[in-house]
Amino acid sequence: MPFQPKSLDECLQDVNSVLHDPWFNGWDITKTRNVEQHLAYLTHAPRGHNFEDSSVQSHTAAEALAKIRQKRAYLTASQMRSPGYHELANLYYALMIGRSTLGCYDDSRQLRLFRGVAGMLQEQGRKHPRVLLLGFSTVYSLENLAALLDLNGLETADIMAFDKSSTPLRDAQLYCNEQLYDKTISYWQGEAQQLPFPDDSFDLIATHLFFTHIPDGEKRQVIREVHRTLKTDGFFVDQELLVPAHFEKEEYVRAFRGIAGRYLHSDDNRYIKKTIASLMMQFASHHHFFPYHTMLDIERDFEAENFPAELQFAESRPIYTSNNRLVHWDAFNIKSQK
Ligand SMILES: C[S@@+](CC[C@H](N)C(=O)[O-])C[C@H]1O[C@@H](n2cnc3c(N)ncnc32)[C@H](O)[C@@H]1O
Repeated sequence: MPFQPKSLDECLQDVNSVLHDPWFNGWDITKTRNVEQHLAYLTHAPRGHNFEDSSVQSHTAAEALAKIRQKRAYLTASQMRSPGYHELANLYYALMIGRSTLGCYDDSRQLRLFRGVAGMLQEQGRKHPRVLLLGFSTVYSLENLAALLDLNGLETADIMAFDKSSTPLRDAQLYCNEQLYDKTISYWQGEAQQLPFPDDSFDLIATHLFFTHIPDGEKRQVIREVHRTLKTDGFFVDQELLVPAHFEKEEYVRAFRGIAGRYLHSDDNRYIKKTIASLMMQFASHHHFFPYHTMLDIERDFEAENFPAELQFAESRPIYTSNNRLVHWDAFNIKSQK
């Protein structure tokens, strides 16, 4: 039985009553996780529709979801003496209203990539795939992956959510425990340089902006581990940003101040926006950022591990620098088959 999402109207009513409940303070995820899961699913196209047809529904659902999540993430991060990377990442993704994460609803090339791979897995007769989600970071990437598999005909799957930090694992367990859209979820903590899985374990390994966190000298070891743990004919899919070699970290950190303007609750609350601006700068400075600079660098690393990658331009992401100069960093889809 495929997952049956509630209608958008029903979800919006639920969100309204949550936000107008005088006792709602955003903390208690158990009160909202049900409507959050339905909304996250609705950020994607309904079955049988094109991605392009459903952009209004997707954006409305993503905004309603962000209203709940921004509040929770802001309270969590602002009340900690020194919030960690993941508390800040939760706030960042909530402020971005679902964008910049794996499988986000408005990145049509990435959605096509997942659609294509899901189709290939079905053609190969892998109707119940084992899937590794590498460095998933927040529930955004987990729910997008589970929804996209579902919407593209893979009604059941075992998803292994993997990260080196325990915070995403704890958050996701509280959010959806072992089941999401009829997919079985299990949680694994470890380092991708040494995956704790036997050879030939997975039909699909998915990740997003992951190599930006892996030091240059260790990237090939991760590629080797991905190749080792994929089954024959299995797929690896990823999206990475290419960042020019000359970018200045300081400028990049200051640019994150502007994201505070996306807080949906307080057009006039300058105190909250100021706090968020400072939290976002902390987020950017937390980044251990080792991005690839060119497509050639990516191709070379994959080829060196006998795992040639297909690269496809996905989108140009606008980045505002500290003096409000607009620059674009290109994001590329990466696909390899073992
Ligand atoms: C930028 S985030 C990934 C974003 C996420 N995939 C998304 O689409 O929203 C990078 C994640 O990788 C994790 N990470 C960094 N180095 C790792 C490693 N060596 N092994 C496993 N996870 C790692 C971090 O803890 C973080 O959660």
